[in-house]
Amino acid sequence: MKNYIKADEWKIIEEGFDPHYNKISESIFSLGNGRMGQRANFEEAYSGDTLQGNYVAGVYYPDKTRVGWWKNGYPEYFAKVLNAANWVGIDVVIDGEQLDLAKCEVFSFRRELNMKEGYLKRDFSAKTASGKEVKVEAIRFCSMADDETCAIKYTLTPLNFSGAITLTPSIDGDVVNKDSNYDEKFWDEVSKATQTDGGYIVMRTKKTGFEVATGMKFSILQNAEVIELATEAIKKEKYVASKIDLQAKQGESITIIKYAANLSSQNYKPEELVEQLNATLNRISAKGFETMLAEQVAAWAEKWKHNDIIIDGDVSAQQAIRFNIYQLNQTYTGEDDRLNIGPKGFTGEKYGGSTYWDTEAYCVPFYLSTAPQKVTRNLLLYRYKQLGKAIENAQLLGFKNGAALYPMVTMDGTECHNEWEITFEEIHRNGAIAFAIYNYVRYTGDEAYLGDYGFEVLLGIARFWSQRVNWSDDKQQYVMLGVTGPNEYENNVNNNWYTSTIATWCMQYTVDVADKIKAADPEKYAALVSKLNLDEETEFGRFNDIIQKMYYPYDEKRQVFLQQDGYLDKEQILVKDLPASERPINQKWSWDRILRSCYIKQADVLQGIYFFEDQYDIDTIRRNFDFYEPRTVHESSLSPCVHAILAAKLGDEARAYEFYLRTARLDLDDYNNDTDDGCHITSMAGTWMAVVEGFGGMRVRDGNLVFQPFIPKKWSSFSFHIGFRGALLNIKVSKEGVQIKNASDVETTVLVYGKEQLVKANDELLVEA
Ligand code: BGC
Repeated sequence: MKNYIKADEWKIIEEGFDPHYNKISESIFSLGNGRMGQRANFEEAYSGDTLQGNYVAGVYYPDKTRVGWWKNGYPEYFAKVLNAANWVGIDVVIDGEQLDLAKCEVFSFRRELNMKEGYLKRDFSAKTASGKEVKVEAIRFCSMADDETCAIKYTLTPLNFSGAITLTPSIDGDVVNKDSNYDEKFWDEVSKATQTDGGYIVMRTKKTGFEVATGMKFSILQNAEVIELATEAIKKEKYVASKIDLQAKQGESITIIKYAANLSSQNYKPEELVEQLNATLNRISAKGFETMLAEQVAAWAEKWKHNDIIIDGDVSAQQAIRFNIYQLNQTYTGEDDRLNIGPKGFTGEKYGGSTYWDTEAYCVPFYLSTAPQKVTRNLLLYRYKQLGKAIENAQLLGFKNGAALYPMVTMDGTECHNEWEITFEEIHRNGAIAFAIYNYVRYTGDEAYLGDYGFEVLLGIARFWSQRVNWSDDKQQYVMLGVTGPNEYENNVNNNWYTSTIATWCMQYTVDVADKIKAADPEKYAALVSKLNLDEETEFGRFNDIIQKMYYPYDEKRQVFLQQDGYLDKEQILVKDLPASERPINQKWSWDRILRSCYIKQADVLQGIYFFEDQYDIDTIRRNFDFYEPRTVHESSLSPCVHAILAAKLGDEARAYEFYLRTARLDLDDYNNDTDDGCHITSMAGTWMAVVEGFGGMRVRDGNLVFQPFIPKKWSSFSFHIGFRGALLNIKVSKEGVQIKNASDVETTVLVYGKEQLVKANDELLVEA
């Protein structure tokens, strides 16, 4: 755990330059706007330890699978969001000497992520090896208002000399993915050009053929006056730059404003890319940096209006929750239903930028409450559009008749994961996709979605489950063999309680949804039956039979659901009795030792109890929580939030807060020693859930919002925004009680501590404590 980020309510601040923290900071200070994003790499050259990263959403490469032992059914490729052309570079040479912080004496250094206004600012003063002292201030952002564009303002002041300074702004497409399986480069150059005040490069991905045009346009100000440019063009393979020689005077600043844009063939015909890119660059440079920045500030102000969580009395918690919300907004804006949320967003390469069950299980609740309805709908449509691929994926494994198995990891619907215990066995992901449909409809009331899209996905998933179980003559029940639950520290187990529970829930929900559509719109239902070749009697008959006769492991003695058959045969030593030196076990133990142990990576039975909470009485929830939590090592960042929510439900406020803390500052404090790879974006949504569903006790029941809040001891109050069926609510929990403000024209009824409250349009009320 590190502790170098300065506490501030709206900013993430690093003061002083410690090269050991550079890769961590590059992740934490990342920028993005849903369409593209980048790590906080320096503009000028840096020869120290760095992970260079610029990413364009949805542009990926299928990297050929690399495994020790090939198994039939393995996917051929792992799709990866690619490291794309680097547009931030501005090389600085002072009297023949390159400015490189790894080779300078750094007097002062400050990196600041302004989360309120959406930009990254860095300033430093440093002395080069030959004794030249300079001061630099750099501000840059990826525009939220105009999401193909970005800008940098880089100001350099010579402090103890006058002399020659060369600035070389560049677009560098000669980049690699650190995680490339065969050390291949994934891009080919298509074209490039330079002009006096800019240049561009068009690159094409190998195999997938995406084309991305990245361009720049710049202007230079000397002592605040725009100067005429005399530039020398540099063109190398996959690289364009412009060399600008300047005479600098001591104490007088030189500013380069670099406008950049990234346009992809996902949105334009390849032959139009260059023309469109130039038009975009002309448009933004005419607008100017300050106007672009003002638009950025306004776009973020609009986001915060619907997103912000205010915590009074704890600056570090305040900073942390805003950081989580900020990063989620940078990663996904919901404008495009072809895009999704990679576990590391635009902050690193790990997990390939692909889609996991994290989206449905963790991110959907955040976007449902804080963004317009269409944002979550687009996340659901992403899966709807990939239904054909999910059916093919199931066929590849031997399933029939429209059964759909969504991938564990995907970019375009094709499975990318290639470890058999995950690819073939971690099938619970299918359940989360169905659950997200239920969650969306429960939250928004948009029942039409079911007939238009949802039912097709649900039926494919239910068909899969109905074929994946088998009848056990011995038990006279249905069983589900050879699975991996959310706890990936167990593989190939029989009858994982969570997977079996969500499987039968999916089948039941599918049958219920069919009844609903049939009742509301018989014609639409008939069309669906025919489109999907649904044999209601036989198929629903089988679903019902499975629902009634499914086997779920249970321990009578302890009265808990059993994670899987045989779980209790394991040596039961609690996590608290494990020496600290042996943790995290995934770094200290052999895999075989982990598999044989009773330790649970992340919520498994408890994930099911969280999803289906209303089906269990409080004693059942408590017994299971008390049994499983002490065996859970929380070695997935997705784990503590579920535990925080359940602890809050059980009235264990101290533990709820303890679990919350583990997620909230996970990246800011580099809790797991892995933030250098990138931030844990999807678990950030879990942090939000821990506040709103945990401390706020928010649920949706019978079409209404329900709150059962408490304030963590360290806080004096907290408040959050919730959009619900047209109403825009701000809920403030303080010692006085729960204040609800409705900033919309839609009235709504909420339940606070079990009592109904009508919140009129544009009104507020206080429910006293
Ligand atoms: C977790 C999975 C998760 C993946 C990506 C793994 O460590 O166990 O549940 O989907 O990370 O976040």
